[in-house]
Amino acid sequence: MSPRPITRCPSKHQLKTQRPWLLLIVVTFLLSIITFNLTSFVLQHANSLGRSCSPLAGSVVPIENRPRIAIVSLSNRVQETVWQNKKAYTKKMGYRFIDASWMIDSSRPPSWSKILAVKSSLRDHDWVFWNDADTLVTNPDIYLENILLALGGRNDFNSTPDFILTEDYNGVNAGVFFFRKSEWSERFLDTWWNQTSFVKFGSTKSGDNDALMYLISKLPKEEKQVHVQISPMQCLFNSYPWFPSRKSVYRLLLSPWTTWQGAYSEGDFMVHLAGIGNKKKWMSKIIQNTRTPRRKTFSNLN
Ligand SMILES: *[C@@H]1O[C@H](CO)[C@@H](O)[C@H](O)[C@H]1NC(C)=O
Repeated sequence: MSPRPITRCPSKHQLKTQRPWLLLIVVTFLLSIITFNLTSFVLQHANSLGRSCSPLAGSVVPIENRPRIAIVSLSNRVQETVWQNKKAYTKKMGYRFIDASWMIDSSRPPSWSKILAVKSSLRDHDWVFWNDADTLVTNPDIYLENILLALGGRNDFNSTPDFILTEDYNGVNAGVFFFRKSEWSERFLDTWWNQTSFVKFGSTKSGDNDALMYLISKLPKEEKQVHVQISPMQCLFNSYPWFPSRKSVYRLLLSPWTTWQGAYSEGDFMVHLAGIGNKKKWMSKIIQNTRTPRRKTFSNLN
């Protein structure tokens, strides 16, 4: 008789004191899930909520004197989805698509070879649009010329800055960028290639992006002003999908404006799966989502 109440009493007591904690944990957990999902939803619909990635959205491209533009990438054959996506886009818009995989310099991590690929492609083109292999065109109705004009603000492709890129949480991103055929571009690419002290093996970072950050930070102010343009909005041509994770929530709290400017939303030109583990899953998800509206438009027209 006597052992029973002794064992029951403390457990009852324990439960009573544990309950508020348990409740707090459950409520916090549920609130976080709601908040994260809401954030995800809001960012995915950033464009409908008034975000503008381009100051000249929907402007018309001049028919005469179109610049010769090539989209250049490495190893896209590995990802059939990416290959098809880029081929379809370049064919529709009249650009060239170059897979420069044959050019890889095996003395460095493959990512460095983008410098060689861009430099070589600039020989026959006015502009080269570099794309890392984990990028997709998500709005194939946008011309690259419109992106260039939106940034240059001038109606002349030859007087726009030579190097156009975007910034994310870390600084300038070397995954997606434009180079114009010019002596300055050639010299800059050579200098970038020459930053051998940044070459890193056996890490997720290969060092080419760090070398670029260093070079840009070191440029004299006047030279940077004339030759380099960093898009005010990352989502103009280099959007990152946002989904709740420890890292993304931390970044959101630390720099909400950067998240807002760069989060992938419907209607954005290009998605870049930078730092995402399961790229295949994300690619098929994004391709499915971008196809649906197009089909709808077609059926509406018919
Ligand atoms: C890059 O390095 C090569 C070989 O050392 C050198 O000939 C060239 O002038 C360098 N180019 C630039 C732009 O620094």
